[in-house]
Amino acid sequence: MKKSSKKRESSFDSFNPLENKTVILGVSGGIAAYKACDIASLLRRSGANVHAVLTPNAREFITPLSLTTITRNPAHCEQYGQSSNWRPEHIELAKSADLILIAPATADLIAKLATGICDDLLTTMVLASQAKVMIAPAMNPVMLQHPATQYNLSVLENRYRYDIIPSEYGEVACGDWGSGKMAAVETIITAVAARLLAHKTLATKRLIVTAGGTREPIDPVRFIGNRSSGKMGIAMADAAFARGAEVTLVSTVEVERAYPVVVVETAQEMQEAVESEFDLCDALVMTAAVADFRPMAVANHKIKKTDSDDLVLELTKNPDIIDLLGRVKRKDQVIIGFAAESEALLSNATQKLKRKNLDVIVGNDISVPEIGFGSDDNAVVILSAEGTRENLPRMPKRAIAEHLCDVLSERFQMLEKAPV
Ligand code: CTP
Repeated sequence: MKKSSKKRESSFDSFNPLENKTVILGVSGGIAAYKACDIASLLRRSGANVHAVLTPNAREFITPLSLTTITRNPAHCEQYGQSSNWRPEHIELAKSADLILIAPATADLIAKLATGICDDLLTTMVLASQAKVMIAPAMNPVMLQHPATQYNLSVLENRYRYDIIPSEYGEVACGDWGSGKMAAVETIITAVAARLLAHKTLATKRLIVTAGGTREPIDPVRFIGNRSSGKMGIAMADAAFARGAEVTLVSTVEVERAYPVVVVETAQEMQEAVESEFDLCDALVMTAAVADFRPMAVANHKIKKTDSDDLVLELTKNPDIIDLLGRVKRKDQVIIGFAAESEALLSNATQKLKRKNLDVIVGNDISVPEIGFGSDDNAVVILSAEGTRENLPRMPKRAIAEHLCDVLSERFQMLEKAPV
């Protein structure tokens, strides 16, 4: 049943699900630009703070004044306009966005996004932002089916940041029939709201996340350790918890959180903590850097300097926690591993993914300076058991964690649909 617009208005007036969310509404130059006013209005009335950015061509179809009035924020058009702030406008907008929606997105704009051309405020701002970008293509069906446009769309689809809201079949403004009509305004708003409110997508799921680097004692004072700071694992546990998951963090780093944190030191302690919860969990995310070897014997007292110039430590292999659990995992459980490599990242990570029977592996190249161990940022490649590969450029570990939560919820959806 089609709801009347009156009913919709009143429900939005009393309910602001998008409160505190900033949406940049990009408008490019096609006839569907007139619908941007409806989109802006519905977004604003559902609580979002909306800033419209128009390309020069969009201004041939609608005026900035309409969008300024509807969004209650000044519409932005000029790449080199006078800004009230010292920071360039495209950077200011790029940083403020929780999400960028481009509706309508023309063939020209899609081509620019796919190749990184930034010759106006909108394309420059998208390039300068790390927010999700949703695009609603709208164009003549022949233009949409053109191999160049299809190629550009596939380029965007394979980039982690972009979601395409598919256009619909129907009669387009020029009188032709086919796919190319911009998705209905309600469809666009629903997609945007689902993306912005994605935080509960892991509700009812139980996750074990490991963090930090294990320490293998040599004597009461010394240990064999590694450089892992635990930041990635803690960011992952935080992000999953915020999305409604029941999280247990097994960590070598002590943190105070609203969810249970089991502090461990050695690989064996980590193994015990993870194994004791594994049966009940839906997913295990092993970000911890687990020592592969430990001293065969731990000295009861501090080892003293001797007359000899050498000290020989005998090491024995630690359990490979993820490997052992990869062997016994049920079909409804997901295991994500990490691989920090200093060479041959892709082939080493792929081998580990297969050898350890993982669903996903997150690889990073530790030879790249300034990211990875100890840093707040990283750049990773995400490989799946199905053979997909996604490259995430340098970004905060928190943003990587958010993306991994998306990966997890997609896998859970996949598992729910899979035949038993
Ligand atoms: N891992 C684990 N137990 C170990 C070693 C590693 O559970 N004893 C997990 C890590 O938490 C990570 C994944 O396995 O998710 C890959 O870790 P990595 O150290 O890169 O793999 P290794 O098999 O130890 O290979 P390498 O020879 O490169 O150290």
